Amino acid sequence: AAGTAPIGIDDIELATSHHVVRLDDFAEANGTDPNKFRLGLGQDEFSFPAPDEDVVTMAAAAAAPIIQRSGTEGIRTLLFATESGTDQSKAAGMAVHSLLDLPSQMRVVEVKEACYSATAALQAAVGIVTRSPGQRVLVIASDVARYELDTPGEPTQGAGAVAMLVSADPKLLEIEPVSGLNSADVDDFWRPNDSTTAIVDGALSVTAYLDALTGAWSDLAAQGGPAIAEIDRVLYHQPFTKMAKKAQVHLAGLTGEDLDTEIVAGADAGSAGAGTAAANSAAASGPAAAAGADNSVATGPRDTGLATSTLYNRRLGNSYTASLYAGLCSLLDHDEDLAGKRIGLFSYGSGSVGEFFTARVVPGYEQHSHRLTVIEALDARVPLSIDAYRALHAAELSSAEDVTTPKVTAGPFRFAGIKGRARHYERA
Ligand code: HMG
Repeated sequence: AAGTAPIGIDDIELATSHHVVRLDDFAEANGTDPNKFRLGLGQDEFSFPAPDEDVVTMAAAAAAPIIQRSGTEGIRTLLFATESGTDQSKAAGMAVHSLLDLPSQMRVVEVKEACYSATAALQAAVGIVTRSPGQRVLVIASDVARYELDTPGEPTQGAGAVAMLVSADPKLLEIEPVSGLNSADVDDFWRPNDSTTAIVDGALSVTAYLDALTGAWSDLAAQGGPAIAEIDRVLYHQPFTKMAKKAQVHLAGLTGEDLDTEIVAGADAGSAGAGTAAANSAAASGPAAAAGADNSVATGPRDTGLATSTLYNRRLGNSYTASLYAGLCSLLDHDEDLAGKRIGLFSYGSGSVGEFFTARVVPGYEQHSHRLTVIEALDARVPLSIDAYRALHAAELSSAEDVTTPKVTAGPFRFAGIKGRARHYERA
């Protein structure tokens, strides 16, 4: 009956772009110490879209395997969360609806509040399924993070999409009803309608994020949510993975709990070669390697999955709305000891909204790991030289001219071009 069955994430998929920019190349071109990115920001690479990719093609690529596995029965809602949408009026989800041949008997909408909106979409989906337990809701978070060239935000760019199917009796994660909320009107990061890149006050954005964490955490307690000792793993929005570390240190301060603060796998943490190779080997050899030295020490900080949940994001860069959920994918794909465990998730969107909510991992979740597929997709990205990347970054399409985009992406869907001021998509 309505209201009694657990509701949450039944299936999840991550997709990214065709290209990658390696921060070692970026550092060399800029005459910067590569450790500023690897250690200072906790980033190794960032995904960058080909000219025939955008939030729609990544979103469709993420959602397609979910639809293939479970069909469309009961799916009557598609919620598309993004802050890098392609139109001021038409929801980007309409193109996904068409590319995936979803049924006409659906509502399709776009949801916006910077990086936070995927969480609003997820909560709305839970509400819909609570009302109608036979329905399922497709939630897609997809973004291309872009800052001006030669600004501090540039190395934190990225691109990615996470698609989630929300249903009753989910196979992966049961979302718990209590959550902590915090909204505050702040100009830390925004993108005016006439700008293709975000404007950011970096230092303010970091404090606004941490203030939102404080507010959401205290509201969680006020709402009767679990204490820190009752939360086994913690996931954060990851604009760059060092931010998750800052948030974890902050939460440890708020709660007085001794929490893990390493974002790079054990022995590799301080070495110049840390990063892609380290993350790959950690990813390939599972949770023990990912959690590094912390696991082998009997006493010491509690392992809440900080290193394990940042493996994908180190390589994706910021994927805005998708970032927290890419962290969830990384955790589910690499931590084999999650059955029945409670995860705390902190979602942040500049401007700003923070939400801290919790979920229980469903036993058997590990049978649905997509680790190999994700790592293959990350490895398969085609590196851009810094000159080629800068040229692509500067290229802007005007909707005023008809264009046919060159075929570049190896992904399943492509942005075919503009005709009569409308964007067109096709299967690649
Ligand atoms: P920056 O210029 O790189 O800052 O900008 P920095 O010079 O302070 O360096 C960063 C860190 O690298 C420092 O460590 C340095 O010590 C370290 P920290 O003090 O942070 O621990 N460092 C080194 N470490 C090792 N070896 C070295 C080395 N050199 C320096 N050689 C900033 C950083 C975050 C401001 C910039 O990247 C930025 O503007 N990013 C974009 C905004 C952002 O991501 N903000 C995060 C919070 S807001 C948010 O999450 C929302 C968002 O996702 C958008 C949305 O909601 O839609 C952004």
